[in-house]
Amino acid sequence: DLLKEIETLEGLFTTDTEKLKQITEQFEKELTKGLSVEGGSIPMNPTWVMSYPTGYETGTYLALDMGGTNLRVCQITLTEAKSEFDIIQSKYRMPEELKTGEADELWEYIADCLMQFLETHHGDTSKLEKLPLGFTFSYPATQNYVDEGILQRWTKGFDIAGVEGHNVVPMFEAALAARGVPIKLSALINDTTGTLIASAYTDTKMKIGCIFGTGCNAAYMEDCGSIPKLAHLNLPPETPMAINCEWGAFDNEHKVLPRTPYDVTIDKDSPRPGQQAFEKMIAGLYLGEIFRLVMVDLHDNRDTHIFANQDISKLRKAYSLDSSFLSAIEEFVLPSAPDPFENLSETAELFQNKLDIRPSLPELELIRRTAELIGTRAARLSACGVAAISKKKGYETCHVGADGSVFNKYPQFKARGAAALREILDWPEKSDPKEDDPIEILAAEDGSGVGAALIAALTLQRVKDGN
Ligand code: BG6
Ligand code: GLC
Repeated sequence: DLLKEIETLEGLFTTDTEKLKQITEQFEKELTKGLSVEGGSIPMNPTWVMSYPTGYETGTYLALDMGGTNLRVCQITLTEAKSEFDIIQSKYRMPEELKTGEADELWEYIADCLMQFLETHHGDTSKLEKLPLGFTFSYPATQNYVDEGILQRWTKGFDIAGVEGHNVVPMFEAALAARGVPIKLSALINDTTGTLIASAYTDTKMKIGCIFGTGCNAAYMEDCGSIPKLAHLNLPPETPMAINCEWGAFDNEHKVLPRTPYDVTIDKDSPRPGQQAFEKMIAGLYLGEIFRLVMVDLHDNRDTHIFANQDISKLRKAYSLDSSFLSAIEEFVLPSAPDPFENLSETAELFQNKLDIRPSLPELELIRRTAELIGTRAARLSACGVAAISKKKGYETCHVGADGSVFNKYPQFKARGAAALREILDWPEKSDPKEDDPIEILAAEDGSGVGAALIAALTLQRVKDGN
C-alpha cells in the first residue's frame, strides 16, 4: 500500500544528524585536498579576487551575467557614497538550444545582447569609450589571471563542443571585436565570487557566497599560505584569495553521499556522468527530475502501481518538471495551511493541467510527501557545505550571502538549511526564537551584477597599484 511506499522513500531520502556530520567531515577534508598540489574532486579554483571591497570603490562598469536561466546585462555606477550604487539592467532569455549548440553561436548571441544594451542606453556606440566589463561566467574555470577562464567542464546541462579545456575570454572577445562592441573585459567571475563580494560590500560579516539555483556552489576568502597549489608563486602567506570551490563536484567518488537509485539514473543520463555528484542531489536543475523519476518508478515497478490505468506519457518526458513544480506542491501544503486536504486539491489541479493525471487522495499525500523529502534533503545537504567551509576557516559566527532560484523561491529551503546547520554545528536551542543564529545564511541583494562591477573595480585598482 501507499503508506509502505512512503516509508521506503523516507528511508531513501532522509538524512539524519549523524549522516550530515559525517558528510561535513568528509567535505572539510575534500576542501583542503582541492587546495593541495595533487588536488581532489572539488576544484577549489583561485579567482584572483584578492581583497574585500572597502565600500568606497567608484566608477562605471558593465556586468554580463551568463547564468543557467538568464542572460543579464547591467551597467553599474559605484557612487562616492559608501556602499551605494546605481544600476540599469536588461534581461535576455538564454535560448535552450544555445546550451547544446555551437560555441560560435553562443558568443555571437552574447555579443549581440551586449551591443543591443549599449545601443539602448548610449545611442551611437561608435563614439563610446571602451567600458570595463566584469563577465560572470558561472562554470568551473581555471584562472591563471583574473581575465582568463579555461573551462574545466560544462555543468548545469550545458554541452557545447570545443570549449572545454580552452580559455573562453579570447572566444568571447573575438565575437565582440567582430561586432565592434566597445568593451574591455576586465575580469572573469564566478557567480559565487560575485555574490561574496557584493554581499561583503554592504555587510562586513559576510564571509561566504553561495548559489542555490540551477546549480549549487560557494566561494570564500582563503589565505594564500593555505593554498599549496599556489606556493610556487611565493605570494605572502596572509594574502587573501577568493576561492571558487565548485563544490557541486563534492563526492564524485561516491564515498559518503546517500545516493538513491534515482540519483544514479540522473547521473547516468546526464551529459557529464560521474561529475557534479553533490550538485545533482541539490540543485534546481535536478529537483523536479528526481521527483519525476520517483513517480515513474512508483507507477511502473512497485507493488503499488500509482496512477493505475492512466496515461502517464507526459510524465515520462525527461526534465519536463522543473523545481518550480515541486515548489508549488510544497507551497500549497505549508504546515500552517488551515486544511491540508483542501490544499492538496491545488496539487491535484497541477497534475491534471500539467500532466493529464488525476491522482487519488492517498496518491496526493504521497506526492506531497515525496516533494517534501526531496526539498528537505536538498536543503540539509546544502548546509553541510556551509558548515564545512565555516569549520575549515574556524568561523564560529558569520554571515553567508546566498542567491539563486532555489534559495529565493523554494518554500522552507532557508528554514530547513538553518535547522540542519544547527544540528551539524551542535548549537544549543535558542532561548528566544528571534535570536540570530551564529552563522546565518541571508539573501544576497542582487549578487552577481554588483559583484562583477566591484571585482572589475578592485582589479583595475590592483593594476594601478602595480600588484
Ligand atoms: C542570480 C545571479 O541572481 O542567480 C546569477 O545574478 C546566478 O549570477 C543566479 O547565476 C543563480 O540562480 P539561477 O536560479 O538562475 O541558477
Ligand atoms: C554550477 C557551476 C558553478 C556555479 C553554480 C551555480 O555548479 O559549475 O560555477 O557557481 O553552478 O550557478
